[in-house]
Amino acid sequence: MCGIMGYIGNKEAKSILIDGLRKLEYRGYDSAGIAVCDGSSIAICKAKGRIDVLERQAETTSLPGAVGIGHTRWATHGRPSDENSHPHNDQSGKFVVVHNGIIENYLELRQALEERGVVFTSQTDTEVIVHLLAEEYDGDIVSAVQRVTRKIRGAYALGVMTEYEPDKLIAVRLASPLIVGVGKGENFIGSDIPAVLEHTRDVYVLEDGDLAVLTKDSVTVLDIRTNQQIERDLMRIEWDKEQAEKDGFDHYMLKEIYEQPRALQSTMTGRIDEAGEHILLSDLKLTPEDVRGIDKIYIVACGTAYHAGLIGKHVIESLAHIPVEIDVASEFRYRRPLFKGKTLTIVVSQSGETADTLAALREAKRHGSAVLAITNVVGSSIAREADHLLTTNAGPEIAVASTKAYTSQLVAFYLLGLYLAEGRETVSSQERAALIADLRKLPEQVEAILAHAEEIHAFARSIQDEGHLFFIGRGLDYAVALEGSLKLKEISYIHSEAYAAGELKHGTLALIEEGTRVIALSTQEQLHEKMVSNITEVKARGAVVLGIALEDNVELHRSVDEVCLIPSTHSLLTPILSVIPLQLIAYYTSVALGNDVDRPRNLAKSVTVE
Ligand code: F6R
Repeated sequence: MCGIMGYIGNKEAKSILIDGLRKLEYRGYDSAGIAVCDGSSIAICKAKGRIDVLERQAETTSLPGAVGIGHTRWATHGRPSDENSHPHNDQSGKFVVVHNGIIENYLELRQALEERGVVFTSQTDTEVIVHLLAEEYDGDIVSAVQRVTRKIRGAYALGVMTEYEPDKLIAVRLASPLIVGVGKGENFIGSDIPAVLEHTRDVYVLEDGDLAVLTKDSVTVLDIRTNQQIERDLMRIEWDKEQAEKDGFDHYMLKEIYEQPRALQSTMTGRIDEAGEHILLSDLKLTPEDVRGIDKIYIVACGTAYHAGLIGKHVIESLAHIPVEIDVASEFRYRRPLFKGKTLTIVVSQSGETADTLAALREAKRHGSAVLAITNVVGSSIAREADHLLTTNAGPEIAVASTKAYTSQLVAFYLLGLYLAEGRETVSSQERAALIADLRKLPEQVEAILAHAEEIHAFARSIQDEGHLFFIGRGLDYAVALEGSLKLKEISYIHSEAYAAGELKHGTLALIEEGTRVIALSTQEQLHEKMVSNITEVKARGAVVLGIALEDNVELHRSVDEVCLIPSTHSLLTPILSVIPLQLIAYYTSVALGNDVDRPRNLAKSVTVE
């Protein structure tokens, strides 16, 4: 996730671009930059760090002109640095590009360009686009952009500008958001509506495959393949400023819950081959011998990231047949873990700055273990200190309660599990392809669950006055129950406990009484019958049970009071779907209780103290 901004009109572009980028900073803050054209030449100003750094640098840089593009970066390919900052220009400096998304085939394109003598100045995937543009340009920027989009594969929102046609800005959208703001004698592009809201409330929301040509007085939208003009509806935005920053959602948490289909997709993009048969984790520096030689894995993390690790353990053990031990980081670092043979330590952290997780990473390294980090922040301490980096490309998570980072961490574990399994030949190619096919369906399936959020809302209303409740499940469902319970506790302040369903009768069943609410997860086919027995046990003591079950699990439907259905998928993948209703239950309950959903009491987004 990155933010794009563009302006064409009569005013000074520099300040409009920087102000717009500030509204988009939530989309990434590893670096920022702008390019401005004065009608004959383009000047670029860019720097690692937040928009403030860019603004200070821009104050002392000559950037005249009323047309320009800008970018705020969330690093994916290439670490945060001045060189990897956007905009990127070609060798002649006559073309500039800003990009949000991932170009999957950039390595092969880069190699071919280098063979043709092109010298690259960054490690980004984006830079191939601008060099291709320079090669393709024959006097018409629109057709050159169209030809380039036929060569690149992946997800992108692009802003393009050239000295040869300084009266035009080009915007392209494919699987990354982009809007066009329509003003009087001026027009804008933005990754999101807040970027342009100060200047106009009239916007076109571009759709996949749209190419928009902006001049200061016109906006033309074309179908990128056919070149046919398309009429898009001009939307009048009535949101206030605060609503706009949350994309019209009431809270960042809800916005982030709804961003999950995109976050999952971005975490997969570029990591599965086109045929859907192999996992490509070229960013890891593990050799085939390394993969085959791993004797043991430690997974270490805190809170929600630890819960993702619980699923990760299950996934790696089942797919790659490597024994996995898991620990919360604050325990791991003081319990003198044993490092024997070739151990890989996987640390999981959204922020990449959690003090205990970072200390655990250092402890593992001190014992000679290789460390692989699964993190959402490429420039973070954990990302920098780890030997191997697997990013979750979920984009910045602002709400304290983690949602999209968690499900993206699960995707990272599925990719890693499959990758290790292929290297160790522990899963057949058919089995792998079937799992990959189901993995690819997840974004769509999450969207389908979100389309029925209203049903969950009704359930949340029924628990808001409860003093405590239980989440129960077996196997992977137990791990998801732990996450559902944590989510509810942290933002609703209602006490809840997650229990392995088979363990209830060893003590906790004593707490179940008439009217106690129990949320029972049952998504694992081989455990359905056992779960039905456990549900019967709690119902016999008066519990009111909400079941989270696969759509075809008829028996469970009959044994609970209410049911929330999720689409069918491979049994290893159900956590990504079953956690969505639990996130929504926590969210709606917190809202109903009037709590500060995004900033729950006593908690912080990044815990950089022990
Ligand atoms: C809960 C939550 C926390 C974090 C934990 C670790 O919703 O977000 O439990 O998961 O503090 O943070 P990271 O992942 O940044 O290391």
